[in-house]
Amino acid sequence: MIHIEDIYFSYSVEEDSEPIPLFEGLSLTIEQGSFTTILGHNGSGKSTLSRMLNGMLLPEQGRVLVQGMDTADEQNQLNIRKTVGLVFQNPDNQIVSSIVEEDVAFGPENLGLAPDKIRRRVDQALAAVDMTEYATHSTARLSGGQKQRIAIAGMLAMHPKCLVLDEPTAMLDPKGRREVLDTVRRLNKEQGMTVVLITHYMEEAATADRCIVMEQGKILLDGTPHQVFSHRKELEQTGLTMPAACQLAFLLEDRGITLPALPLTEQECITALENLLP
Ligand SMILES: Nc1ncnc2c1ncn2[C@@H]1O[C@H](COP(=O)(O)OP(=O)(O)OP(=O)(O)O)[C@@H](O)[C@H]1O
Ligand SMILES: [Mg+2]
Repeated sequence: MIHIEDIYFSYSVEEDSEPIPLFEGLSLTIEQGSFTTILGHNGSGKSTLSRMLNGMLLPEQGRVLVQGMDTADEQNQLNIRKTVGLVFQNPDNQIVSSIVEEDVAFGPENLGLAPDKIRRRVDQALAAVDMTEYATHSTARLSGGQKQRIAIAGMLAMHPKCLVLDEPTAMLDPKGRREVLDTVRRLNKEQGMTVVLITHYMEEAATADRCIVMEQGKILLDGTPHQVFSHRKELEQTGLTMPAACQLAFLLEDRGITLPALPLTEQECITALENLLP
């Protein structure tokens, strides 16, 4: 669905200062219908990468192909933006209208769609994020989690094939985090939406198909969550905190008790311990 091919990218901090390289030959493929999480320390390049996925940023060398469309080709811009929807951290920065349904209609209106088509898309998008009953509510009075779901609905109304979410739960309370994650998981499972979720929460990564750990603009680890979290040393070196279930398993391992498989969630941990203990 998205191919990143050998890209180079650097930032200039000031106008005439030497640019600081971030990506130096980064390659990555995101499969259609997959659920990928991207983890990594502050400044490892996650947000920059997310902006490469829909052409908001362009590589200096190499190329990014979205369903075969090169992001560097200006003619593809609109189609790429429709194909890959980006959701950001701060829900308040993404809401443009004071009424929920008007906010969700904003994107399709800009596409110039007919009013009945827009209506249908808005209704579908609100249903998909479970916010139908809030259609005529004021956006200002929603909770953080609800606002984030409206931001997601706004993207869905564009009928994207892929959602890229850059720490969408970072500013939310636990309930809001759960609402947003459940929504994204459901979109992936039920509608086959390709999802790329950038997060600082290891627990959010545990249930993905694929987990990528970035460090200093490079891919340090890439695999299933089980594969990635088994790399205890590398993860400890990057200073990322493991899911609590993994931490417990590693503590046991240090004391000579090895669980048959590395648990990633509390439930897996409970099952593993139940099977282990007499
Ligand atoms: N607009 C910019 N100008 C200059 N340097 C930048 C700019 N944006 C990011 N950088 C630098 O590029 C590197 C990667 O930043 P990026 O925001 O992609 O990381 P990140 O993994 O998303 O971090 P975080 O976890 O803090 O969100 C950092 O060293 C950052 O300082
Ligand atoms: Mg970031």
